[in-house]
Order: sequence, then structure tokens, then C-alpha cells
Amino acid sequence: MNQDLVAEIRSKIDIVDVISERIPLIAKGKNYFGVCPFHEDTHPSMSVSRDKQIYRCFSCGESGNVFNFVMKYDHKNFSEVIKELGERAGVDTKTVRIHQKDEKYNNLYEAYQLSQKYYQNNLYSKLGREARKYLETRKLEEETLKEFGVGLSLESDNDLTMLLKNKKYDVATLNQIGLSNDMHDVYKNRIMFPLYDPYGRIVGFSGRVYKDSNGGKYVNTKETVIFKKGNCLYHYHEAKDYCKSLKSVILVEGFMDVIRLSTIGIKNTVALMGTALTKEQTTLLTRLSNHIIICLDGDGPGKNAAKKIGENLFNMGIEVKIITIPNEEDPDSFILKNGKEKFLSLLEYAENYSDYKIHLLKENVNFQSEEELASYIHSVLLEASKIDDEIRQEIILKKLAKNYDIGYNTLEKRFKELNPKKKKQPEKIEVAKKSRKDKYQQAVEQIIYFMLNHDWVVDQVEKEKLVCPTNEERLLISEIIYFYKKNGYIDIADFFTFIQDKNDLLKLLNSIVSSNYQENVEKKNLFSYFHVVKDYSINQQKVRLQELMKEEKDPLEQAKIADQIRKLKLGDN
Ligand code: GTP
Ligand code: MN
Repeated sequence: MNQDLVAEIRSKIDIVDVISERIPLIAKGKNYFGVCPFHEDTHPSMSVSRDKQIYRCFSCGESGNVFNFVMKYDHKNFSEVIKELGERAGVDTKTVRIHQKDEKYNNLYEAYQLSQKYYQNNLYSKLGREARKYLETRKLEEETLKEFGVGLSLESDNDLTMLLKNKKYDVATLNQIGLSNDMHDVYKNRIMFPLYDPYGRIVGFSGRVYKDSNGGKYVNTKETVIFKKGNCLYHYHEAKDYCKSLKSVILVEGFMDVIRLSTIGIKNTVALMGTALTKEQTTLLTRLSNHIIICLDGDGPGKNAAKKIGENLFNMGIEVKIITIPNEEDPDSFILKNGKEKFLSLLEYAENYSDYKIHLLKENVNFQSEEELASYIHSVLLEASKIDDEIRQEIILKKLAKNYDIGYNTLEKRFKELNPKKKKQPEKIEVAKKSRKDKYQQAVEQIIYFMLNHDWVVDQVEKEKLVCPTNEERLLISEIIYFYKKNGYIDIADFFTFIQDKNDLLKLLNSIVSSNYQENVEKKNLFSYFHVVKDYSINQQKVRLQELMKEEKDPLEQAKIADQIRKLKLGDN
């Protein structure tokens, strides 16, 4: 690909903008920080540098420029990303041809896509009348149903199976995708909700009963290579942009809740696929926003799940709010009964997780009993101690003092005993526990990092004729020198693109960039690192020669080798 074109596109877009459209970033000093999306994490270990136009994760060691990030995050290949970002930068990318990679599962996506069209058609056909009536009773209009791709499976035995079969799919594939079973359709008489992956591709369905049918209320397609229930949040791909602009995400239990909220204009929503929130789903959720509003059903299981999920997210340092839906309703039925405004007011008065928990503590306490009151107050103080905000802590203490007529000083004294020396800790950035590198390795990596940041170091390395005894490092150095000579400047972000097809070098570059090497260099330091590399190199040669010597039988040759070793020792090489 034309390197000038690539460099032009890169210079016209800002990595901070592009990444922050995908994950929340917080500015801290010169850099931006976010939760790294490339490994399971909850701490902001990924930094994005506007100066350098690169990102790097200090925990998993991922790094690169804006193209690398988008390729990895959006699962696209290089030419696709160049096209997309090029268009955005207003650069003509007509010459870029897209090579589709990763087409392994395309036939599965296509089969689901085709089935979705088929189901949707059914719903608006004559045979869909009863289902349409049912959906009407649930107050769902055609526009909404279309927005969510809702369809219908029919009474028929094998309509879908035959349709797919006529479109080249073999029996094995049909069984594999969970829509057909030995030439019979799996779904009969169900309202079909397509399920999407985070990139908006259909990867399965959930079918809901609406008249007599066997099996549970909802039946999901079986798990496949492209669909794992615990890795999905319903509506994620659509919610992404809304969560970004509204800076929050609302978590609900069911599809119907997401759909109902959409009818009143609330679209920063995702639904669990059951009540437990898996680790993978937690990662997805925190990608959407650092501010999560939990709005589960108002029944017992819903409340328990809200408490558990809330506690978990709260402990991860996420801003959690809880909406409690009254009278055991779910968001869908609440909105139908009480209207949009009432729900908006629930949303507005959503409680901070800590306040919510303090309220919960009140349940079942007999305030007439001194013992129970004291134990209640103790647990409130304990909860308050977990809040990272002194003003809110004081408010809670004052309320307690007033409501139960206890001296503020008494409460404060007890409160301080609970958390004697709570020191504010600076936010931890977990540095990867990399295997300890030896002196040579550190020196050569530090030299490479200097080269990537300062033109004059590249010149200096060339002048020194520095030769590394290890292959990869030697290759990387020669690529940097080549890049510099060709372009007349050195730039880490562009260099990433330059070597992007060379996997081994890229790996080494990643590891160097995401380690905490010094950036500012003094000649004196640089030369001491040169020294370490040279010493190591001489040592390596010596070892090699000594081995040769052992094998050599001819005394004349032996003498030659001995001479070489002596010269090495004198530094005359
Ligand atoms: P409606 O009853 O249509 O209003 O749906 P709901 O969204 O209120 O469903 P509910 O609160 O009962 O369940 C919440 C979510 O749990 C659903 O959206 C489904 O994802 C899942 N779920 C519910 N029932 C079943 C079931 O029988 N089988 C499976 N696999 N999942 C279910
Ligand atoms: Mn419901």
C-alpha cells in the first residue's frame, strides 16, 4: 500500500478521538487512560498519547498506532481500516482495495441473516396475523418491531430448512447453526428475536412463545463458534454510540425491557441473557461506560441480582446507580402502566449504589430494639467507610445523628475507629510482571526506544556501527534506520504501520513500547548502553571462538583462532 497515503491519513486523524469513540478515556496529565479492551481488566492500564499518537497497555503489553487499534478492536483488516479512517479524514482512498480476511464464518452469518429475513417476512404475511395481534396486545408497533428485526417462526415443519438447503447449505451446517434439526425446523410458532454480536452481525435467535408451544418462554439457539450466551449483551452494538454520548449505560433483564425503553427514546440500554452477569459481560459493560445504571425487575430475584451485580461493579471502582422498580414490575410493564414521565423520574432519582445499600440495611430492622438499632448503625458506618467521598460520608453521619438522636461526635469517633488510616492511594497502574530482562536486553531495548524518539540517536547508532548479536533486535534496528533514511524523520506511530506485516518484529516493538523505558536521553547514558551491548557482543564472539577452538584439530588453524581471541580481548576488532 502507498505509504504516503497511509501517513497522510494518520496525520489527519487523532488517535485520542478515534479510541474515545470506542472506549471511555480519562485525561490525566499529558496522556489519556482507559480500561484496555484487549485483555480482561477493570483498571485503566491503557494509556493513549496524543503527542506520540500511539496507545499502549502496561498490563498486557498491547500497543500500536490508530490503525492497529481499530484493526484489533473492530476486527477489520488493514485496508478496511485505511478506507474507513481515510474517508473520515477526507483523503481519497479509491486506490485502496479491500482484501477480505477472516471469512471463515461468513456462511454462518449469512445463514442467520437469511433466516432473519425469512422470519420477518412471516410476521407480515397472512400466517402472521395471530402473532401480530399478540404483539399489538403487548403494545409494540411495526416501527419498533422492525428496529429490532423481530420475526416469526411458523407452524410448518421444514420451510426454513428447505429454504436454506436450496441456498447451498448442507445438512451438517444446518444442524450446526441450531435452526434446523435433521431436516426439521427447530423453531415453531415463536416470536423470533435476532441476537447480535458486538459488531452487529446476527449470531443466533431467541424465540418467545405467544400461543401453545413446547418448551420454555424463551428458547435460544444453541451455542456455536460465533455465539456464546455469556459473551453477549442484548442490544450492545446499537447501544454503543448512545452510551458514549450520554456517558452512561442502563442494564436491564429482558429483551422486552430494552425494546420498551426504546419506544420512549431511551436507547443506551443492554439486557442480560438471564440474571447472572458473567466476567465477559462485565468487560463488555465497562467498555460502554464507567457509569452503569442497573434497572432490573422489581421482584425478589431481580432485587437480589441488582445487589450482587451492583456490589461487584462498585468494588471495581465503577460509578453504579440502582433503579428499583416498584411493585415487582419490570421496566416494560412499569412503563406500560405508568407512562414515560414516571419512568424518567425513576431514572432521575436513581440511587448511588452506596445509598441504595444503606437503604437496604433498614429492611427488617426492629428500631424499637436498642440492640438492633446499634447493629444497624454499625453496618451503615461500615458501608459509609467504603465511599470514596468525605462530603458524602459526613452527610450520612449527620443524617444518622439526626434521625436516631445520637451525638455526631460519638458517631464520628466510631467511624474513625472503623477505618483508622485510610490513605488515598494513587490509582494503580499494573505493570506487567514481565520476566526479568538481563542487562544486555535492557540496554538494547532502551537504545531502540531512544531511536524511536530521537532522530539523532538513529544517526548515532549508525555511526557507531552498533551490531547486536541477537537477531530480532538487530533486524528491528536496521528497519528503524531504513525507515529514517527513506522518510527523513522517525515517528513511532508511522513506524508501527511500516513493520505491520513483520509479526516477530512487531511483537518485539510492542514489548519495548509498553515497557517503561526512559524517553529523554543524554549522550553519556546512550554511550553507556552502547558499551553494554558491545561487551555482550564481544563475549558472545569469544564463546563462539572458544568452541571452535575445542573442535579444531589442525594446530595452524588453532593458532589463528587463538589470535582472534587475543585481538577480541584487546578490543581490536
Ligand atoms: P416478557 O415475559 O416477554 O415480558 O419477557 P421479559 O423480558 O419480561 O422476560 P423475563 O423477565 O421473564 O426474563 C428476562 C430474560 O431472561 C429474557 O429476556 C430472556 O433473555 C431470559 N429468559 C426468560 N425466560 C427464559 C426461558 O424460559 N429460557 C431462556 N433460555 N431464557 C429465558
Ligand atoms: Mn416482562
